[in-house]
Amino acid sequence: MAERPRPLVAGNWKMNGLHASLNEVEKICSLSGALGAEKVQIAICPPATLLLACSKICEGSVVALGGQDCHWEASGAYTGDISAEMLKDAGAAFVILGHSERRAGHHESNETIRAKAAAALRTGLSPIICVGETRSEREEGIASAIVAAQLSGSVPQGCTAEEVVIAYEPVWAIGTGLTPTPDDIAAMHGFIRAWIMKHLLGRGDLARILYGGSVKPGNAAELMKEDNVDGALVGGASLAAGGFMAIAGVYG
Ligand code: PGA
Repeated sequence: MAERPRPLVAGNWKMNGLHASLNEVEKICSLSGALGAEKVQIAICPPATLLLACSKICEGSVVALGGQDCHWEASGAYTGDISAEMLKDAGAAFVILGHSERRAGHHESNETIRAKAAAALRTGLSPIICVGETRSEREEGIASAIVAAQLSGSVPQGCTAEEVVIAYEPVWAIGTGLTPTPDDIAAMHGFIRAWIMKHLLGRGDLARILYGGSVKPGNAAELMKEDNVDGALVGGASLAAGGFMAIAGVYG
């Protein structure tokens, strides 16, 4: 049987979570032991204010941590920004980049995302680079062209397939309760796999391609079973440990 990448289920907490939410992190750590680290990798991407506290809680567990964005420079006069080096220093192993909420809300271009991804790689963080079309782009039949342009523009040239994670997140599925059909997901993930095999160095078959957008305990098994779906990027349903671990449990 062909070798498959180890699935990754990552929780994107977005701008949610206060000190009291660390309870959920404790629960995720204790529930994760039963799952088997070789079957699935689990990561939580809390707001930066909680990263250091989370890293103390997750120490010794299989749960990895990630940031939700980073600057492309290591340090300097960039008020309000956080560098990849700082995320790493606070205990992160991943960083989400190019999420549609940053592409749209913060006018991030592919070029900016690529510079940030290069900074992540330079620091030893795995970038989770998000791509995905809007509803009107899907209706116009240009979803794959949009995703191809985002991949070509935001994935650093010369990187290997194993060191980046791609998250396919159709904008219209994020936080809406809507999801593409399993066939549409399989088609787009197959398209992304083919792009990776053609354009990146290394083992394209081992690159992880996550699906994100309204993944819930109730639909995770159906969405995750498709070919080339190597895990999930989970927003709302990652805020409560029980729901998040039920999603990861699809791989248990
Ligand atoms: P959602 O968000 O699961 O709440 O739809 C996913 C994401 O934005 O990463």
